[in-house]
Amino acid sequence: MARRAAIVGAGHTRFGVLDEGPRALLRSAVDGAFSSVDRGVERSSVDEVFLATLGFGGWQIGNSSAVLTEEAGLEGPPTTRIENACASGGFALRAAVRAVEHGDAGLALVAGLEKMTDVSNARRRYWLGVSGDTEWERLAGLTFAGVYGLIASEYLHRYPQGREALAEVAVKNHANGLKNPNAQFRKRVTREDVFRAPRVADPLGLYDCCPVSDGAAALLVVPADQAHRYTDTPVYVEGLGAGSDRLAVQERAQLTRFEASRRAGARALADAGRSHREVQFLEVHDCFTIAELLALEDLGFAEPGGAVELTLSGATAAGGRLPVNPDGGLKSKGHPIGATGVSQVYEVFLQLRGQAADRQVPHAETALTHNVGGAGATATVAVFSRG
Ligand code: COA
Repeated sequence: MARRAAIVGAGHTRFGVLDEGPRALLRSAVDGAFSSVDRGVERSSVDEVFLATLGFGGWQIGNSSAVLTEEAGLEGPPTTRIENACASGGFALRAAVRAVEHGDAGLALVAGLEKMTDVSNARRRYWLGVSGDTEWERLAGLTFAGVYGLIASEYLHRYPQGREALAEVAVKNHANGLKNPNAQFRKRVTREDVFRAPRVADPLGLYDCCPVSDGAAALLVVPADQAHRYTDTPVYVEGLGAGSDRLAVQERAQLTRFEASRRAGARALADAGRSHREVQFLEVHDCFTIAELLALEDLGFAEPGGAVELTLSGATAAGGRLPVNPDGGLKSKGHPIGATGVSQVYEVFLQLRGQAADRQVPHAETALTHNVGGAGATATVAVFSRG
């Protein structure tokens, strides 16, 4: 199998409505990443830095990648902000892996950050809306919940049993989030709660939506052949894939498939030299419950419509044959936009090192992360293995 790079450290803040500002969040995630390196590492060895952020909310710092180097206590390495909406984190990891793989960096720091709760609802809707199409979506009043509501309506028209599966995704991911100390929501949700909840964008209700969240996560990435200088248990990045699609959903041939995810998933598995059967658990982009069903199909773990049966069978729950989002997913862990793709890798880092406590996927050796920008305009997928 390919070994493109290795993750040797990872840090994570709590996700939720937090008092901390963006600088404190960055500092805490980065400090966590450095202190998790088993044999230690000098901060002065970092020679490439990437910050994933939409640049949301009240802080409004344009050149924010310099804030990351400042808060990380680094002395002047090159630093780049990567903004691909909700997929910023996945694309930042990709940039870091490429940098170490091609010899541009011996140690790269990747951080993802969003502070979303320090602005009014109207400004928040504006900030989220700019990641979608302007003429046909945002200015027509369509929110992201609205876009995914349209997608879910079309999916349920094709596969009516999907309504039960959407509820199951919410119940499952809330149950998983209960076991994650960093999750925004740590409360059990029943099928009845899901069906009784207020509608947000029909057919999606409150428990079908990810929340609005603050938070940060960080990773340390090194060349694969250097990993054992830092730890006996590195997590290898075996394969990377990325793709894109038309920005406005109305420009797409079909609402119920994301071509960007399909391209990214196929490329990542081919790049890793892995089959679907070898992947033991998934961290997928469930910004709305319908998105988890689409991800299972777009990534090839189910046929079109097959995610319904896969989900209802319990296969994707903890203890199932293919656990999906053991950390609670965006649905219950939270979705601080730029941090999400990095946070997914943090979970993989814990799981593949056997450090995920009571949400540990037994004997986990391979995993896949899937991070989507907007309503499917950009996507990245990465495949990981245990060292
Ligand atoms: N899931 C579960 N519970 C939620 C929730 C969610 N997504 N969002 C809020 N809640 C809970 C709150 O904790 C609060 O509970 P409490 O009364 O027990 O304290 C209650 O619901 C009301 O919270 P509030 O913040 O007033 O909700 P809201 O109506 O303003 O917002 C949504 C709810 C779903 C509209 C909002 O979370 C949202 O816009 N989510 C989508 C964000 C998004 O589009 N991200 C980009 C994706 S591509």
